[in-house]
Amino acid sequence: MKRICIMGLGYIGLPTASMFATKGLEVIGVDVRAQVVETVNGGNIHIEEPGLLAIVREATSSGNLRASLTPEPADAFILAVPTPLLEDKHADMRYVCEAAKAIVPVMRPGCLVILESTSPPGTSRDLLLPILESSGLKAGKDFNFTHCPERVLPGHILDELVGNDRVIGGFTPDCAKRASELYALFVKGNILLTDITTAEMVKVIENTFRDVNIALANETALLCEALGIDFSEVARLANRHPRVKLHNAGPGVGGHCISVDPWFLVERFPEHAKLIRLARERNDAMPHHVVHTVLGLIGSPADAKVAALGLAFKGNVDDCRESPALSVIELLKKEGIRVAVYDPHVKSGPPELCGLEECFQDADCAVLLTDHNEFKNINPDQVAKLMRKRVLFDTRNFLDHNNWSSAGFHVTVLGRGHAAQ
Ligand SMILES: NC(=O)c1ccc[n+]([C@@H]2O[C@H](COP(=O)([O-])OP(=O)(O)OC[C@H]3O[C@@H](n4cnc5c(N)ncnc54)[C@H](O)[C@@H]3O)[C@@H](O)[C@H]2O)c1
Repeated sequence: MKRICIMGLGYIGLPTASMFATKGLEVIGVDVRAQVVETVNGGNIHIEEPGLLAIVREATSSGNLRASLTPEPADAFILAVPTPLLEDKHADMRYVCEAAKAIVPVMRPGCLVILESTSPPGTSRDLLLPILESSGLKAGKDFNFTHCPERVLPGHILDELVGNDRVIGGFTPDCAKRASELYALFVKGNILLTDITTAEMVKVIENTFRDVNIALANETALLCEALGIDFSEVARLANRHPRVKLHNAGPGVGGHCISVDPWFLVERFPEHAKLIRLARERNDAMPHHVVHTVLGLIGSPADAKVAALGLAFKGNVDDCRESPALSVIELLKKEGIRVAVYDPHVKSGPPELCGLEECFQDADCAVLLTDHNEFKNINPDQVAKLMRKRVLFDTRNFLDHNNWSSAGFHVTVLGRGHAAQ
């Protein structure tokens, strides 16, 4: 393989394109957004990810990576486009279909097509196959067809791209083998081969496993609050059992994966995926619980203001997709509360986004929603002077509470009942 074409230059496509380019392949990175194409061709990045800028610079300056608005003939095509949810919680497969249709005219006999986007099980055979075969080529005979889902952790994408085990599902065993030879260029983890639908299910169930376990932690946190005890103490002790690993509780689940992918199973199998649906609903209800707690803490002062710390869906990244912080902010606003948000990682977002001081100015309560490391460096004594009331609600049990209490803050932690506060 000499030349590959990657459809979608986002959190997955751009690191993958750069990785292949630095291994000597000629890579055409395709994106429908002209600004992304321009940025990448200028050796820059449009997303925040540690180490990404350096590898993109290396890839573009070597001439091996170039971005384009349109696909070109290549030995392999990788689809790394979004698979978000529609309002009705069904997978929005428009991007995958459009990217597949775009490569049809440039597919040649012997090429390899890889779906990397996380997709509802059955997508490759039922949705993609007819589109790709409209090229006149037959999968497994004239071209190779695989699903190679991505399981990287935002904030650690470049390390995990290389180090994680990789599941590759082939339309035929030969298809899987061909894709494994391509990924072996940079993957140091094990490459595990299976069939195409199994690979789709593996990826979706991994994220569903996480979602269900987080839902259990969140539900346990609510029970602890009702019991007047501390979830973190319960989790600490329960996790001393050799076969128990309670996850962390928090304000909800966000991101493009864990909060989205379980719906792919609910959508397809509503009769069977009952636990999965309940877990989704539990996690989606957490922002309501956060707001309910905030309202209890601030009472009903005129012109109440909340200082929200964090907009991103998890710590130390800039990705706000499906972030529970967005839901918390919207719900607070619906209650007539003014909200200001400080997030050192997020450069653009809702109008409430502002600097640290403006965020705390005249606030009646500070609510930590994202566990960014920078928040540990906030000096409680300094921000206390800006606030109207010294109230902190830590939804991730993340800050040094002694420090904040010493600065006169009334500290509340999600999952910690009144008696344990
Ligand atoms: N972000 C993660 O950490 C992560 C982890 C594992 C799996 N995934 C999966 O990978 C897939 C991609 O996710 P992402 O986070 O990289 O998304 P993203 O939104 O960051 O990037 C996708 C890119 O595709 C572009 N695009 C849309 N339609 C296109 C088309 N027809 N042709 C070419 N480009 C097009 C968009 O402009 C965007 O730049 C999703 O299915 C996601 O679930 C993501």
